[in-house]
Amino acid sequence: MTEKELLAKLLADNENCLKCGLGRGRKKLVFGEGNPRSRIFLLGEAPGAKEDETGRPFVGRAGELLTELLALAGIDRQDVYITGSCKCRPPKNRNPYRKELAACRPLLERQIEIIKPRVVVCMGLVAVHNLLDRRARLADVRGRWFDGPSYKIYPTYHPAAVLRGTVKAHVMVTDFRRVAEAVQARLVD
Ligand code: URA
Repeated sequence: MTEKELLAKLLADNENCLKCGLGRGRKKLVFGEGNPRSRIFLLGEAPGAKEDETGRPFVGRAGELLTELLALAGIDRQDVYITGSCKCRPPKNRNPYRKELAACRPLLERQIEIIKPRVVVCMGLVAVHNLLDRRARLADVRGRWFDGPSYKIYPTYHPAAVLRGTVKAHVMVTDFRRVAEAVQARLVD
């Protein structure tokens, strides 16, 4: 089966997931989208209202900004794979609980196994805690390379931080450019 077919089957097997309480409140499970053979895998937090309605990741304001920041870094959104640490919307957009992230973890790991990215870009602290280190502080790890099991991990901010004004857009653009350059130069193969 192709990566696309494997992902479609994974979605079909999980779209009615009730492994944690978030399943009961969701409209749609937000599985992820993008190039199923991408070397770059963008990992966010959890869906918001618009994502929950459409079933697509990063389609709200933070998502529109993400698309722009990627473009400024020379990356077409369609060329990367984008998903969240948690596939269902937490009530009132609270951060997902650890047990909810844990319930979603096998699905994320299977996505990574199918896509085989060179780099997983962890956008924001939820993604960093989920994939890299539960105790990390974003200021300490952002912009550095870490070894994952079969890929590199590159922490950066979540685009919502740019919307809030706590992070400058150019910092994220620089991070995305570094990731694209590293992948093109096969530095992280
Ligand atoms: N994670 C996010 O941070 N946002 C989304 O839209 C989906 C997953």
